[in-house]
Amino acid sequence: MRDTNFLAANNAKQIWHPMAHPAEMRENPPRVVMKGEGAYVTDLEGRTVLDAVGGLWNVNLGYSCDPVKKAIAEQLDALPYYSGFRGTSTGPSIELAWELTEWFAPEGMARAFFTSGGSDSVETALRLARQYWKIRGQADRTKFLALKKGYHGTHFGGASVNGNANFRRNYEPLLPGVFHIPAPYTYRNPFDETDPARLAKLCAKALEDEIAFQGADTIAAFIMEPVLGAGGVIVPHESFMPLVREICDRHEILLIADEVVTGFGRTGAWSGSRAVGVKPDMMTIAKAITSGYFPLGATMIGEHVAEVFEADKTSFGSIGHGYTYSGHPVGCAAGIAALAETRKLKIDENAAARGVELASVLEDLKARHDVVGDVRYKGLMAAIELVSDRATKKAADKAVMKTVADAAYEAGVMLRVSGSNIILSPPLILTAEQVQAIGAGLDAGLAAA
Ligand SMILES: Cc1ncc(COP(=O)(O)O)c(C=O)c1O
Repeated sequence: MRDTNFLAANNAKQIWHPMAHPAEMRENPPRVVMKGEGAYVTDLEGRTVLDAVGGLWNVNLGYSCDPVKKAIAEQLDALPYYSGFRGTSTGPSIELAWELTEWFAPEGMARAFFTSGGSDSVETALRLARQYWKIRGQADRTKFLALKKGYHGTHFGGASVNGNANFRRNYEPLLPGVFHIPAPYTYRNPFDETDPARLAKLCAKALEDEIAFQGADTIAAFIMEPVLGAGGVIVPHESFMPLVREICDRHEILLIADEVVTGFGRTGAWSGSRAVGVKPDMMTIAKAITSGYFPLGATMIGEHVAEVFEADKTSFGSIGHGYTYSGHPVGCAAGIAALAETRKLKIDENAAARGVELASVLEDLKARHDVVGDVRYKGLMAAIELVSDRATKKAADKAVMKTVADAAYEAGVMLRVSGSNIILSPPLILTAEQVQAIGAGLDAGLAAA
């Protein structure tokens, strides 16, 4: 690699960053991360900070997971790539599909379709949902319903079901036939309802109304994150997803659980659906499937959905969809090793225990800093929503958010800012001391604001 001067001089010159304005990046180049160890990362200047972002919700095992690194190296030696299209499988893809169906057996997931990441997994689920209805002779079922504030990646299908205007506006017109209902977001909602259980019922009722308005026989699927991540860690009341399941069942609408963030322990359970006792019809996964060590995702397909495809006698059953890197052998080898480590370390239990500690840290910060409007958390995913005025809930501006993140960094903690939310998703190997260190970094950041 070129030297550090070269990297510093060219940072944000030739590279465009996702989710950023290119001019802003050129003017104020981002930090360059050079190394990772455990739950820490080191930047170009040699400064080491605790990574409260966990890469991007994905480095659950931290940066020093030798078994995953070894599995990648060994697979690179044995077979760096072969196609997973019709005609060939690779060993690791067969094994990982088996592991995943075992892993997600409680959710009733029976098949895996491999992808290169979360957006691909969502796209796959949406396309398979339409195809499912065509096979069943209900070709009118093409529409999708989703939650406002939901995030489902950036492909055209995913962006269409996305419920955040900032990921939609610049790319419209999006897919027709997609409709959104309010999210069970207690801090801000159109019903002015602050009780989570009552709000869950109101949002479920909105779903029911929308289905009646559209006509159930025009709707292919409803997609939701069990805990909404990028939209600001919105944690629905535990009754919400079961209510949604019941409504979808009654109207024969497929339920797609987007578990790209919530899969593999992030919320303190192996999946967000499992935490609330829901069996979706399909699940989208990615991110922590390899702990971020290799780009990989999968769409998991429920038994009864799979049966429809596998028993198909029409011309609609063949899957005209896939990616060059579907079932990439190196990614699948990384996935097998990451899942084994994830199980061995019981990181779901650690996420749950550290999550309780993090929650009390966040509540304490809210009590002491007026700039904090709301704190939300589940396991080791959390958000701190900043406001310029608690009474009006006016969102904090960009400059305030930057001040917080910069001051926290100075205090040794990497944070992520998304709109007026500070998002926390540290590695799930986090220790109790590291939870307190994140708290201290946040305290310094909030004090600076
Ligand atoms: C819930 C959810 N779905 C889909 C995606 C898209 O994943 P990717 O960025 O790997 O394409 C993300 C990314 O953060 C996500 O949080």
